[in-house]
Amino acid sequence: MAIYQATASAPVNIACIKYWGKRDTKLILPTNSSLSVTLDQDHLRSTTTARADPSFERDRLWLNGTEEEIKDVGRLATCIKEMKRIRREVVEAKDPQAPKLSTFPVHIASHNNFPTAAGLASSASGFAALVSALAALYELPSSPSELSVIARQGSGSACRSLFGGFVAWEMGSAADGHDSLAVEVAPQSHWPEMHALICVVSDDKKGTSSTSGMQRTVETSALLQHRIKEVVPARMAEITAAIKARDFDAFARVTMADSNQFHAVALDTEPPIFYMNDVSRAIIALVVEYNRVALEKTGKRKAAYTFDAGPNAVIYAPAENMREIVSLIVRYFPQKDAFKDVFGLFGVAGVGEG
Ligand code: PMV
Repeated sequence: MAIYQATASAPVNIACIKYWGKRDTKLILPTNSSLSVTLDQDHLRSTTTARADPSFERDRLWLNGTEEEIKDVGRLATCIKEMKRIRREVVEAKDPQAPKLSTFPVHIASHNNFPTAAGLASSASGFAALVSALAALYELPSSPSELSVIARQGSGSACRSLFGGFVAWEMGSAADGHDSLAVEVAPQSHWPEMHALICVVSDDKKGTSSTSGMQRTVETSALLQHRIKEVVPARMAEITAAIKARDFDAFARVTMADSNQFHAVALDTEPPIFYMNDVSRAIIALVVEYNRVALEKTGKRKAAYTFDAGPNAVIYAPAENMREIVSLIVRYFPQKDAFKDVFGLFGVAGVGEG
């Protein structure tokens, strides 16, 4: 009896132009395009194994060893159903010899090699790995952009984790969402000097989930309307040009401005949402001061902070500045534990409570 099983993994991505707001909550269609850097590094990945077997009773999923419920109309069920549909239409309908895997229940086991609740975009790598594992299991000929349309329906930001390097999620305009997908802006090899340092300020689970936060912002924030119409389209063009030209100063300026505006939009929500805490703001002050000195000396910024829907900082910088930045962070934010690893390409640093 044949065994039908496949494993795939996907990395975390961190947005420079933030996705915040849905125009369609079921299909997860965003109110603006976004752009991220994939932290394509061994230490921040989800790895997922999927197995199809006619003897299984139903679809089941385990996350880090604990079973998660697959709710009937939930996002996990949507992604699994969509992948089975593609298997049926693209493989089984065309090749009568192909095993009818789309009719078998699947068991899926997923593992993150970083703390799931640490606000490190585990849903992005998780859904990207899930879709990739099913695509491998079902032997689909789909491109990463095609798969990103399915991953997007698990968690919006997951669509960007189908690519490494620098990735745009084009918002699209079709009502069915087929053109709301991820595209590669540049591969990682285009700008290997770009590094990221993750400062885990708090590994508590975030207070307001991105789903409910976005919904409230869309319903109540006037600033969001200005952002999606007047600000983001120009920023997408600007940061794409900065990446293509490997212009770190422009990249840093746009990245920090967009993080600031995302958190301003959260504050403009009724009731307001605060994702950053005092340590987050102290990290901003440190990067601003570091850049002020650099701007005075050379006219160019040396680091860029960005914060997602939580207090943890990600600092982008050219590799040559990282040692200096890490030593500044360690000096101003003494560690509770011995300073952990600073990984080769993308570092993870624990930052204590000041
Ligand atoms: O994909 P979600 O629902 O986890 O939302 C992600 C939202 C941000 O991380 C704040 C921004 C982004 O573009 O990743």
